[in-house]
Amino acid sequence: MKNLLDILSEKTGEAFVKAGYDAECGRVTVSNRPDLCEYQCSGALAGAKKYHKAPLQIAGDALENLDKDIFSKAEVCPPGFINLDLSPAFLASFINEMAESESYGYEKASSPKKVVVDYGGANVAKPLHVGHIRSAVIGEAVKRMLRFDGHDVVGDVHLGDWGLQMGLVIVGLKERKPDLPYFDPDFQGEYPEEAPFTISELEEIYPEASARSKEDEDFKKLALEATNELQSGRRGYRALWNHIMNVSVADLKKNYGSLNVDFDLWKGESDVNDIIPVMVEELKQGGYAHESDGALVVDVKEDTDTKEIPPCMILKSDGAALYDTTDLATIKDRMADIKPDSIIYVVDKRQGLHFEQVFRAARKAHMVEPETELTFLGFGTMNGKDGKPFKTRDGGVLRLETLIADTKEEMYKKIREGRPVSDEEARAISEVVAVAALKYGDLTNQASKDYIFDLDKFTSFEGNTGPYILYTIVRIKSIMARYENEGGKDISGVKIMPAANESEKALCMELARFAPSVKGACDELAPHRICGYIYDLANAFNSFYHETPILSEEEERKASLVRLLSLTKGVLETCIDILGFSAPDKM
Ligand code: ARG
Repeated sequence: MKNLLDILSEKTGEAFVKAGYDAECGRVTVSNRPDLCEYQCSGALAGAKKYHKAPLQIAGDALENLDKDIFSKAEVCPPGFINLDLSPAFLASFINEMAESESYGYEKASSPKKVVVDYGGANVAKPLHVGHIRSAVIGEAVKRMLRFDGHDVVGDVHLGDWGLQMGLVIVGLKERKPDLPYFDPDFQGEYPEEAPFTISELEEIYPEASARSKEDEDFKKLALEATNELQSGRRGYRALWNHIMNVSVADLKKNYGSLNVDFDLWKGESDVNDIIPVMVEELKQGGYAHESDGALVVDVKEDTDTKEIPPCMILKSDGAALYDTTDLATIKDRMADIKPDSIIYVVDKRQGLHFEQVFRAARKAHMVEPETELTFLGFGTMNGKDGKPFKTRDGGVLRLETLIADTKEEMYKKIREGRPVSDEEARAISEVVAVAALKYGDLTNQASKDYIFDLDKFTSFEGNTGPYILYTIVRIKSIMARYENEGGKDISGVKIMPAANESEKALCMELARFAPSVKGACDELAPHRICGYIYDLANAFNSFYHETPILSEEEERKASLVRLLSLTKGVLETCIDILGFSAPDKM
């Protein structure tokens, strides 16, 4: 289905052509003076130079040739604008077509791509903390957006499951339980099936070991050794690593699940361990990598660089692989296995340099096709009200679980306040609404910017918040339910009538923005644009609702309005589903 603005631009374009000017001059935009008109065309101003004519004259010529049947107003305004208002009948026909079209008239991408979205990035054996929320929330939205746009998208959590943190857990556990068979190098038997720790224990062991390694050089050395031994295949350590993975991944799935985030692939850094030696050999053979101070590196600087881009580190002087290495090998693995046209990394923007190095090395060594897109979608920090990275009251790192629980609790309080719902019901509703509060609070900010986490604001029913959007949907649901209870007729075949007043027309105009808004968001990988759109749509709906006694209207108009409501609900629900949350039935 064509976009409304394109239809309008075509009409005015034809008028310009008939008057002897370029069709390009007919480009129509939403008016930036809504007090004067709904849409405007400023092509005559741009054409003045080319045609050596006054803009007012050009606009006048075009207006004379304009087919005015779809406009209720079309006039020239100095110094040369054409101001336009749509005819309510035309707008209604557009809205009806939208209501009947698949995906509300959204045109999927003409050439669908195979895309990998690398997001989540949790580190095994460490609890998820607030730093991980943005990757999970933004990545999930980006994945869903691209799917909606018709692409074949694979989401991969890319676990940090292979580095020093694993060695730290191993030596930490050895301190606590030195008699376990995993630490006995001579042990030949079968290792127990049961993990020798719980998730809570695991979450104690890591921070303890990590803190100690910062003070105790010998302890750190042991952890490095254990990491090395694990990576080169020591049997007991591999068995222990499997336990750590199982316990940790089960917990991660639970936590991501509570945020409505799920991954197609649960791969990690460890999955490329076996292809690293092959890759290293290829990098050497191809002459891409060379030795530098004992380490193996790929030079990636380019003549046009304005800042220093250090080489991509492939192997440390002790032969150990690094973060650059696993990411590069993961590209190789994905190209062989998935053959993506595009890989998008949703990672903290402070890792920008790392990805620049990795992308350059991958291109230099021809590990990707020249047309493969490698995109770093870097996000800013979630800060507390003091403007510093979000911390607990005692200055510790806040666990994601705690953050979610706190948000649910706050939501529960707000839902109980003055609402006639049972305790049980309030709990169930707050589960759903809290996820929206958290996710919308994050997604509504441009990803690359830092934002302030403000629990009170995020959970408010008013303003640009998740609960406000959900409340709007719930309001529509309840009007529709009342309509049905009062014996209203089936609206499935009902046509939406031309808008009878301004707020109704404004709502229709917002609905018409659905497809271009979502398309723009997909093209720019910018979920915040969808948030911006549904906030405008929710506002337009609520103004309309306050001015219109929907259920007291006469039968035919009432059915038409309920049809308009159901379209609004459908569009809002589609958008929040793309963003990764849902609405309850009651609130
Ligand atoms: N585990 C990493 C971290 O916590 C994030 C992983 C991001 N993805 C990647 N392909 N490197 O910093």
